[in-house]
Amino acid sequence: MSNYWNRRFAQEGMIWGTDPSPTALEAKGIFRKHNVKSVLVPGAGYGRNTKMFSSEFETIGIELSGAALAIAAEWDPACFFISGSVLDCNLETKVDAIYCYDLLHLFLIEDRRRLLTNCLEQLHSGGLLYFTSFSDEDPNYGCGACLEPATYEYKAGKYAHFFSEADLKQHFEHTEIIKTGTHMETLRDPQGAARQYVLRSILARKSNELSLTR
Ligand SMILES: C[S@@+](CC[C@H](N)C(=O)[O-])C[C@H]1O[C@@H](n2cnc3c(N)ncnc32)[C@H](O)[C@@H]1O
Repeated sequence: MSNYWNRRFAQEGMIWGTDPSPTALEAKGIFRKHNVKSVLVPGAGYGRNTKMFSSEFETIGIELSGAALAIAAEWDPACFFISGSVLDCNLETKVDAIYCYDLLHLFLIEDRRRLLTNCLEQLHSGGLLYFTSFSDEDPNYGCGACLEPATYEYKAGKYAHFFSEADLKQHFEHTEIIKTGTHMETLRDPQGAARQYVLRSILARKSNELSLTR
């Protein structure tokens, strides 16, 4: 996966422009209300979303692609970026909240579980999770070879998992789910060309120290 993203960030730079996702704005308001002080952003890319949080919270981004991190260091110097995989990172200090934009759907089931387990381990008890992922209402759902239930190779060499509401809730079944939502997201490349995606979001709370693998 890192080769794919490295190549894209090296060739295309700020692939989705500089604006953060509107979901980052929503998450920031929620985190503020809950008196959050620290935020982890797994799959931080080049920092377009971390910048939304780092102006107010202590923010840590984890990112696999060196090319993305090189851009991120300049774009969001207030964020502390860690080079590595969220599947096996281990922070020295737990955080109050996690915002994770369009990362979870990139993995097959085993690694989706691992991602969520590891994220929960980085979070204080009572901490908040705000995740977004592709929805099964997105037009790419059902396109291409089916690799696992609801996971399709929708472009040559690129697959994603498309979440129904029930499936998303099931992935977070060991958390206290606060709410779910659907978002029409418009992503613009640096040339201004726009593409629309249908996403689902979930806001949840880590209720106690039990892990997802229990
Ligand atoms: C769809 S992009 C989203 C980037 C960013 N969240 C944004 O919206 O600008 C997914 C990102 O996750 C990163 N990524 C993929 N696998 C990862 C992993 N195991 N650990 C950390 N980052 C990963 C990719 O390099 C890429 O930057």
